[in-house]
Amino acid sequence: MGGGRYYEGALYGRVIEPLQRGLHARVAALVPPGLRVLDACSGAGGLALRLAADARDVVGVDHAPAMVAWAERQRRRAGAAGARARFVAGDVARALAAEGDGAFDLATMVLALHEMPAATRAPALRELCRLAERVLVVDFRVPMPRNAAGLRNRALEVAAGPTHFRAYRDFVRRGGVPGVAAAAGVACAHLRDLDRGAMAAFELTRG
Ligand SMILES: C[S@@+](CC[C@H](N)C(=O)[O-])C[C@H]1O[C@@H](n2cnc3c(N)ncnc32)[C@H](O)[C@@H]1O
Repeated sequence: MGGGRYYEGALYGRVIEPLQRGLHARVAALVPPGLRVLDACSGAGGLALRLAADARDVVGVDHAPAMVAWAERQRRRAGAAGARARFVAGDVARALAAEGDGAFDLATMVLALHEMPAATRAPALRELCRLAERVLVVDFRVPMPRNAAGLRNRALEVAAGPTHFRAYRDFVRRGGVPGVAAAAGVACAHLRDLDRGAMAAFELTRG
């Protein structure tokens, strides 16, 4: 089981996730209503619960127990949307191995690929492309623009600690989402830039 970083759980849910609400709203706008959705690396659960407002159902998966506990706490307070969501603790490359191919209509993965150790990225992307026909991946653009959004994101990557920053640097060296997707053998199309060009949404499909 992953996790164990100082910002997981309440600190992420109370301080960091609220800063992502605008981003999550833009991701939710890319997801048609009525779908079975997998939110991979669901963190404090805000995006999954937002998607559950319009989805048929949503499964959030995260390997950090403190994140899943926080998300579950938010789910219980989320009324009807909460009833359509569930959170699973585990590595996204393995946690839903018992589910059949195409069990979900769509999977999302927001701001997670850049923090994964290099060896775990390709298995995670391949598993998402097995589980869902369409996979929306949102992460940092490479290179990060030198505007206010880019400088803020870079500062947050440093603040997240040396292990996190090393993984981010490796993600940059490998060409960001398109480079990692190519190495994993999955097709990757750029959908749109977000966060003043500091992030982008990509659609991944089985190659
Ligand atoms: C920066 S947070 C983003 C959370 C959420 N997607 C959001 O937009 O708020 C990245 C999350 O990915 C999770 N994560 C990283 N690698 C993972 C893996 N291999 N399997 C499951 N969760 C993972 C971390 O535990 C963390 O909660």
